[in-house]
Amino acid sequence: MRVLVTGASGQVGAAVARLFGNALPGIELVLPPRAQLDLERAESIRAAVRAAEPRWIVSCGAYTAVDAAESDPAAAHAANAVAPGVLAEEAVRCGAGLIHFSTDYVFDGSGERPWVETDPTGPLNVYGTTKLQGEQAVADAFSASALPSIVLRTSWVYSDGGKNFVRTMLRLLSTRTEPLRIVGDQHGAPTSAADLAAAALAMVQQAEAGSPDGTLRGALLGRTGVYHCAGAGETTWAGLADAVRDYLHVQHGMEPPAVVPIVTADYPTPARRPLNSRLNCDKLHANFGIRLPHWRQSLAEALRGLAATDLQTALVRMA
Ligand SMILES: NC(=O)c1ccc[n+]([C@@H]2O[C@H](COP(=O)([O-])OP(=O)(O)OC[C@H]3O[C@@H](n4cnc5c(N)ncnc54)[C@H](OP(=O)(O)O)[C@@H]3O)[C@@H](O)[C@H]2O)c1
Repeated sequence: MRVLVTGASGQVGAAVARLFGNALPGIELVLPPRAQLDLERAESIRAAVRAAEPRWIVSCGAYTAVDAAESDPAAAHAANAVAPGVLAEEAVRCGAGLIHFSTDYVFDGSGERPWVETDPTGPLNVYGTTKLQGEQAVADAFSASALPSIVLRTSWVYSDGGKNFVRTMLRLLSTRTEPLRIVGDQHGAPTSAADLAAAALAMVQQAEAGSPDGTLRGALLGRTGVYHCAGAGETTWAGLADAVRDYLHVQHGMEPPAVVPIVTADYPTPARRPLNSRLNCDKLHANFGIRLPHWRQSLAEALRGLAATDLQTALVRMA
């Protein structure tokens, strides 16, 4: 089975490539780098998919620089709004299933209730707007097809590689002495890239098991579409920073600086961010039996791994 993963150098793509490679016997992974599959060039997407003729496409590549997107909307639009539609068209053309990642930033952040998939969207920034357009492009391309297409909206992703909030906090909390002022009024759930990869794998396995005639047509009958997929529980960015702080204190006997919660208005950024990023993930559980672990549990596991690398690096830098 050939699986093409876009964005395999990113957090989620790398986790997907690692897990799929280990878990699916006989899998042939196709991991085109940007030079071979450029999300901003539709023709390069078409050529890469046609060369691979995959059975599955896992679409992890995206323009993820939320603030930079405000001043570079054309690039964000090409990669996040147009490219998913092209990938989806090519998937339909070659009979492949598609799993595409999207974001909590499609919502406007109002209220305090976790968002469900059918809630009205209302992105506050260019990134969220373009990601929403990408979701719609996927739905359009698959609308007349019985092939499986899944959009997984997730939030606050971290992993052991790449740039993410958890790694930044590990570095700052292990090297700084002055208190860290961190936004404490945006609510959501940190999500481990490894957990997202496990969810995607479980979906592929269920689709393959339900593939009636060996093709993927009808494999997820009645179960395709948009799903919320984030770590269980909720916190704020300050709460997440505090959890990293606790870890350094309890597990490593360190005395990191205090985390001081601030309000979003005191931390201006080019892109507006939603205050309520909570995602209700019940539909994923009801339709696939998948529920991601509590964010604290996954964070603890990730921190154990990260401490071996990032923390050592930070401590060496301090010495
Ligand atoms: N990170 C989060 O907190 C978060 C939250 C919600 C949803 N999501 C969604 O989850 C998915 C995965 O995010 P992530 O955190 O894994 O992102 P990431 O670590 O920033 O990785 C993005 C990937 O996309 C690739 N990419 C960007 N522009 C490209 C282009 N023009 N052509 C080809 N490849 C390109 C990057 O390749 P290079 O290495 O070449 O740059 C990289 O492999 C995305 O759909 C994102 O929107 C992320």
